[in-house]
Amino acid sequence: MYIARVKNESVWQSLKILFMGSLLIFLINIYFGFDNSLTVGEIERWQVLIHLHGGSVGWITLSAIGIAIWIVTGERDVTPGYERNVRALVWAAVLIFAGYVPTFGLAFSRPSGFLVSLLPVFGSGAVIVLWISAVFSFAQFKHQPVVTTVHYLAAGALLTAAIGATVGMLLGLERVIGQFLPLPSADRVGAHAGMMDTYLFLVASAIVEWSTRKEAARWTWAGLLQALLWMVGAAIVPIAFFLNIVEQVLPVFGLMLLLGMVIFLFRFAWRALINLPIGGGVKPWVFFGTLWLIIYMGLFLYAVVGTGGDFSVIPPWYFALFAHAGFVGMMTNLLFAVVSSRGQEAASVMSWGEPLSLWTINLGMLLFFGLKVAFDIRVGAVFMGIGVLLGVFTMFRRLLAS
Ligand code: HEM
Repeated sequence: MYIARVKNESVWQSLKILFMGSLLIFLINIYFGFDNSLTVGEIERWQVLIHLHGGSVGWITLSAIGIAIWIVTGERDVTPGYERNVRALVWAAVLIFAGYVPTFGLAFSRPSGFLVSLLPVFGSGAVIVLWISAVFSFAQFKHQPVVTTVHYLAAGALLTAAIGATVGMLLGLERVIGQFLPLPSADRVGAHAGMMDTYLFLVASAIVEWSTRKEAARWTWAGLLQALLWMVGAAIVPIAFFLNIVEQVLPVFGLMLLLGMVIFLFRFAWRALINLPIGGGVKPWVFFGTLWLIIYMGLFLYAVVGTGGDFSVIPPWYFALFAHAGFVGMMTNLLFAVVSSRGQEAASVMSWGEPLSLWTINLGMLLFFGLKVAFDIRVGAVFMGIGVLLGVFTMFRRLLAS
């Protein structure tokens, strides 16, 4: 495992602030997740959106910025200017993302007004933070002793997220000033959501490779191809929506996802799966995260190619499974691996909390999905949610103590 502590103390402390911030914002997602679980009938759109973005923006994208900073800083000596820039970026990211998430609830629960206009205001801030993080990460490549595939995956993830978030922010602006984007398709949100669902593969595979490699090794052509397939694949989604050629592009998109996955399976995914999820620390999280990555890819490919482009054949339980296989199964398991590494110095704090959370989340997901598919009820998600909450609490206490 070559996830090593960042050598510079100030950057290491900045990462602590960032991950504590992302765990706290994740609580917004979890609160509404419990509310969803206990809601019978349709969940209001504003509630789905604040729940979704609490997890996807506040927890996952904010942590992805932290991961990139961690990877490009590594064990280098850095200047006081670098330390200050990282600290400023981290605080800006935490504060802006913390403001952005609630605006989804505020903006989508009313037709117009001042609170609706906060959505593109915070959205623009989040987009600027993402572009700066992406440019910053690529700019650090020239200072690396070895540029690895993990660097490409982590920085490429931020670039992809920055493009996708820009489209999302413009959709938010449309809520204030009316439609202006030339999007002919009825599904306007797909131009943003499709790209953001795909960028997760880049972050996830960066974490899997980072945690399973023994030591840093120079990037390889296969690794670069994997990163490019997923980056370009994600980028063609909004292009297809703007040009109204979604149906024609879907098979190409599906093929790119699959090819990237095959390369990843041969390169690294198998290594994560041969470590059985026993004991504590990073490996069990990465085992489950990788397993869900494969399931999430299967569900993704079913929608993209298995339906032949006719989304009306998708069963109603599909979206709940798709969202949670990706965001909880794949991403939350893998992010807990990273945060667990950051809090390693305090691993004795609630040492029972980590394995208990791991198993409650993963068995809870099975219960959630089983009950959802068999009886169309959501209450199984409570069990999964308790696991996630325990994980957040354990990791937060360790970060505080570390
Ligand atoms: C990163 C974390 C998460 C993200 C991004 C996320 C995302 C989503 C999305 C997109 C939906 C709407 C799915 C649809 O269209 O049907 C949803 C629904 C839901 N979420 Fe989450 N979720 C996350 C975590 C959680 C957690 C921790 C819980 C439990 C506490 C939870 C419980 C639920 C429930 C019960 C539903 C309703 C499912 C249904 O319609 O039957 N989610 N979530």
